[in-house]
Amino acid sequence: MARKKIALIGAGMIGGTLAHLAAKKEMGDVVLFDIAEGMPQGKALDLSQCGPIEGFDAKITGTNDYADIAGADVVIVTAGVPRKPGMSRDDLLGINLKVMKAVGEGIKNNCPDAFVICITNPLDAMVWALREFSGLPHNKVVGMAGVLDSARFATFLAWEFDTSVKDVNAFVLGGHGDTMVPVLSYSTINGIPVADMAKIKGVSESRLDEIVDRTRKGGGEIVGLLGNGSAYYAPATSAISMAEAYLGDQKRILPCAAHLTGEYGVDGLYVGVPAVIGADGIEGVVEIELSDEEKNNLQVSIDAVKELLEACKGLDSSLA
Ligand code: LMR
Repeated sequence: MARKKIALIGAGMIGGTLAHLAAKKEMGDVVLFDIAEGMPQGKALDLSQCGPIEGFDAKITGTNDYADIAGADVVIVTAGVPRKPGMSRDDLLGINLKVMKAVGEGIKNNCPDAFVICITNPLDAMVWALREFSGLPHNKVVGMAGVLDSARFATFLAWEFDTSVKDVNAFVLGGHGDTMVPVLSYSTINGIPVADMAKIKGVSESRLDEIVDRTRKGGGEIVGLLGNGSAYYAPATSAISMAEAYLGDQKRILPCAAHLTGEYGVDGLYVGVPAVIGADGIEGVVEIELSDEEKNNLQVSIDAVKELLEACKGLDSSLA
């Protein structure tokens, strides 16, 4: 059987981490693309030399030529610029939209059958624009956000309840901005609802609210600490789990920015929802019952995504 091909667009910190993870897991051969000359080639050479030490067998190449991503099975897009302290993800709209145009065309011309995972911010708008520019089917283009946001939520809950993260199941709906909706009512610790666990452990509602708030602002917290860049280990790990779900036809239910056609009352937008990922890409969306308060919060988040899309259309007439 032919080895799979994983194309990584953007060879920055997330791109390099993705390449390392993909190679280490022997998911296939890795092509690291960037427009910066020498950078993807240098990173690919460095990472290749980890193979003999770590014992992985993957061909890792660096390139500045989109032709080299031809036939890729999975494309993970991190190209564009990250925010700096004091900026919101939305401040990156203009600059990263132009990048998505070039990337979308590169994908369209070279690997139109790929499963494409977008990480570039502002995520919900960039994944939508990337889909438009590439022309790929909606089920083959998805945004990485929910896995990351849910992992943050789970981490903070595990710390609070002094329990293993392996036992925490938590998830986040909505856009990948500060309006995202961490859903406590569906979060459990080994099947025990968080609200019940909070009573057992004496954790107050206001403390849970603080955890929800920290989750919402989780990306910004790391941007503030790093000073010059944004998170990369957890974003890369999140995207790799989505790629594995696709390549292995795992039918995993993962929270991710999926294209909605009526689900959650949303039509034609990419918004974070629990979605089934298998060999056909996004194979379905799971609609959960929400309380009135959760519905209202989700609507605020959806409205924020809509506003961003309008701004995108205003910036590039081909999207209108
Ligand atoms: C994240 O959530 O870590 C990313 O979206 C990067 C950012 O700017 O917050």
